[in-house]
Amino acid sequence: MALVTFTNPEYRDKTVYAVAGSHTQTLLKLARENKIPIQFECEDGECGTCLVRVTSLDKKLERMGGPLTEKEKTILKQQGKVSSEELEKMIVDDLPCEWRLACQMIVRDEDIRVEY
Ligand code: FES
Repeated sequence: MALVTFTNPEYRDKTVYAVAGSHTQTLLKLARENKIPIQFECEDGECGTCLVRVTSLDKKLERMGGPLTEKEKTILKQQGKVSSEELEKMIVDDLPCEWRLACQMIVRDEDIRVEY
């Protein structure tokens, strides 16, 4: 069981439980189930509307969800959130990326904060 805290300056923080280990539950699905008003359009990693910033609250782990999908890499580069060099380093050194697409990120058993 992971705790996911959604935070936005216009709304009160909301912390919800995520069922970890399903390997299918995306951050966006979790948000929608809990009526968190994350914006989205395509739900398929194409538009970049659901961009969020993720921070691990468990400093020992720092995995922050499943690995970046190819669609996320494309959108994050397009939006200037990461460079090709930074992406390369993340892959080589197995580092997490703070910028994610909520419709693509799979929730893991880790407490995180999500800024939307
Ligand atoms: S809703 Fe379009 S990229 Fe996530």
